Amino acid sequence: MNNLEQTLSIIKPDAVERNLDNEIKEIFRKKGFSIKKEKKIQIEKSEAEKFYKVHETKPFYNDLCAYLSSGPIVVMVLEKKNAVLENRELMGSTNPKDAAEGTIRKKYGISIDKNSIHGSDSLENAVIEIDFFFRD
Ligand code: CMP
Repeated sequence: MNNLEQTLSIIKPDAVERNLDNEIKEIFRKKGFSIKKEKKIQIEKSEAEKFYKVHETKPFYNDLCAYLSSGPIVVMVLEKKNAVLENRELMGSTNPKDAAEGTIRKKYGISIDKNSIHGSDSLENAVIEIDFFFRD
């Protein structure tokens, strides 16, 4: 049975700024993810607001959207069996302070805002987020 999943990953401005994108992509490849699509872009704040609309009532929404649009990001479609969950495990907790050893946020994250990476939190959101960045 083919139960491959796809999930969206974003290497955030703090990591791209430190030239960590290739290193982070290599971590994904070593863990068996294939990077099916990728692009380095910078988005407008209005696009970040659409992307993070689910957080619009949160106190950190404005800063979050300003931050995601503050510099280049790398957006990727990752594919693997059970990709959504495995990506979340590999990223680690949202706050790098709470992230487990061996996770990307533990290794590279600076703060809860500058936590280096975003990943879809469910298969349903993965479809929506992939479409957001890669619809033709
Ligand atoms: P991300 O996985 O991209 O999803 C939303 C982002 O909001 C999250 O990573 C954090 O970088 C950021 N954020 C800032 N403050 C908080 C908070 N208190 N709780 C959750 N996420 C936060």
